[in-house]
Formats: sequence, structure tokens, C-alpha cells
Amino acid sequence: MEKIRVGLIGCGGRMGGHMSSSFDHMEDVQVVAVADPIEERRVAAAARYGVRRAYRDHSELFAHESRETLDALFIAIEPTAHKGVEEAAVEKGIPFLVEKPMTLDPEQGRRIARAVAEKNLVTAVGFQDRYLDLMEIVKAEVDSAPKGGLVYGAWIGGIPGPWWWQKKSTCGGQLLEQNVHLMDGLRWLYGEAISVYATASRGMVTPGVDGVSPEYDTDDHSTVVIRFDNNVTATLVSGCYVRGSRPFCGLAISLKDRVLEYHLRNNLVIRTPAETRDIPRRVDQTARLDRAFIDAVRAGDPAAVRSPYADGLKSLELCFAANQSMESGQAVILR
Ligand SMILES: NC(=O)c1ccc[n+]([C@@H]2O[C@H](COP(=O)([O-])OP(=O)(O)OC[C@H]3O[C@@H](n4cnc5c(N)ncnc54)[C@H](O)[C@@H]3O)[C@@H](O)[C@H]2O)c1
Repeated sequence: MEKIRVGLIGCGGRMGGHMSSSFDHMEDVQVVAVADPIEERRVAAAARYGVRRAYRDHSELFAHESRETLDALFIAIEPTAHKGVEEAAVEKGIPFLVEKPMTLDPEQGRRIARAVAEKNLVTAVGFQDRYLDLMEIVKAEVDSAPKGGLVYGAWIGGIPGPWWWQKKSTCGGQLLEQNVHLMDGLRWLYGEAISVYATASRGMVTPGVDGVSPEYDTDDHSTVVIRFDNNVTATLVSGCYVRGSRPFCGLAISLKDRVLEYHLRNNLVIRTPAETRDIPRRVDQTARLDRAFIDAVRAGDPAAVRSPYADGLKSLELCFAANQSMESGQAVILR
């Protein structure tokens, strides 16, 4: 079997995850080109795969590479760096997997989605949780249960390391940057939302103190209420002010006859009057995500991934609507 030749744009933290979960082990994949403005990162990535084609950024990569030299691209760059990256991949007809959030500009996202559709290009967004065995069980439980109920979702912790994370203008806010994973999970479980209402608070985290950037200006916490069809209402909370012990993170779903407690990427507890089952995670969801994308590239089948670009954009758009509600104080009616 011929190897799928892969190029990497961005060699930071998340690409490291794709490397250790996937590229280090996939026998039918060969990393052939890498790009990152940070020299030590691109040099380290190039050395890891014995690659000579190491570029300073995406522009240099696209100046030298084409569909003849690359079968697929993985893109993991900061949210504000998506300046012509996916557009160039589409123009050259190179399938790509891009990390969320793929843009902070809804209009750019829509333009890219249209261009991807016109070319029928294979794409994927890094919504790894759709490939979790635990979320597959949650989905099967929800699909087979009587419709309706309350859902509580939470992603509460500290402030992640990258410089761009601490400013709302460069990360989009914790909801869009991080909790978009659970937002995407809600869409996967319940379909498209009817409305969102959101609030946000600041003032608990002090810029310039305890290792926090002096430029920190993102929300310390936010709460979104999302209405779905079939009498489902979800409350999704995000917080980045917590140090030390971490509160519950994941989804707590109250069905009529059972409770599902999905503990973020760790385990799933299912409680019924008769029994309590505690199911541990058994898969590496990033490896499964990357495998699905590579298989889709090989098959030339855009539908063979769980989160193609256009679908991933819908999860972003729900977060954009929530951000709008945080600003205006008004609910956003989506349909
Ligand atoms: N799916 C997930 O679970 C998951 C997990 C972590 C991060 N992410 C997402 O992945 C993205 C990257 O996050 P990260 O933690 O790796 O950030 P990071 O800051 O560690 O790495 C980003 C890298 O991109 C490089 N870069 C920027 N512009 C570039 C360009 N034009 N061409 C080539 N390289 C460029 C930077 O120099 C940097 O090394 C973010 O959008 C983040 O939200 C997703």
C-alpha cells in the first residue's frame, strides 16, 4: 500500500498530540514536510520524521508543495493564524485536517466551507471527542431513550499555557477555544440548536499575578443556555479561574429513567434504579480521528469523517452566537 504523504502546518502543542498518537505509529502514513515560524519546533519535527522539507510558515510550504507532493495536510496553529492557510489548501486541492477553532471570523469560515464543497475536498476538524468510545455509548443511550431532558456540561480548570490563550481577541474566549468540544458534542447528540443565551464574568483572575499574563483579558467564566428540539435544554459552563482541585467536567445527562455522567475523556457512569455501571475510556480518540481522516483521504470520501469542515463550522457558529449573547445580554434565536 502506498503511503499517504502528509505535511504539517504548525508544530506546537497540539501537533505533538497528533505525532505521538498517530504519525509515530501509522505504517501507511509518512510525514514529508513541516512548517512552523519557530525554528526549534520545525527543526525538532523535521528531525523526528527524517524530513528535509522544513518551511518557515504555510506560505513557504505552499510555494514549494502541491497535490503532486502532498496527499494531506494537518493544520494546528493558533486561532488568529488562519490567514489564507485553508484557502491555499483548497486551491491546491489538498485534503486537510484542521484544529478547532478554525477561525475567529464567521465569514471566513463560510467562504472556506463553500470552497471545500465546490471541490468536494476531504476535510476534518479536530473534534476528537466524536471518536471517543464513551461518547459513542452516550449517543447510543440518548438516541434510544425517550426524548427530552436536562443536560449540564462543564469544562472548568486553569489557564492553558499558550500565549494566545489569555486574550479573548486571540483565542475567542474559553467557550470557543476549549468548550467548543462539549458544544460540538451537544450538536452531535441533539442536532441544531433553537436558541442560545449566555453570560460571562471577569474579575476573579488578576492579570500579571501568579503567572497570569499582564495581558489576560478573557472571561473567567461563562454560562450558556442552549435549547434544542424535543424538549432538551442544555446548560454549558466554562471556567478558567480554578487552581488545585478540579470540579466535575464533562456532561451530566438526566434521562427519564437513567443518568449519564460522562467524565471528560476519562469514564462514563450510567445510573439506573437497578444498577450503576462505571465504564473507563479504552481508546485513543486522537488516533481514531486521524485514522478516520487518513482513510477518508485514501478513499476520496468527504463523508467518511464525523466532523468535516462544514459541520465543524456549525459548532463554531453556535459559540459565536453565545459570544454575541454575552456581549448584548440578549438571547440569540437561531431558527
Ligand atoms: N482538538 C484538540 O483537542 C486540541 C487540543 C489542543 C489544542 N487544539 C487547537 O490546536 C490549535 C493549536 O494549539 P496549540 O496548543 O498547538 O498551540 P501552540 O501555540 O502550541 O502551537 C501553534 C503553532 O503554530 C505555529 N504557527 C503559527 N502560524 C503559523 C503558520 N502560518 N504556518 C506554520 N505554523 C504556524 C506557531 O509558531 C506554533 O508553534 C489551536 O487552535 C487549539 O485550540 C486542539
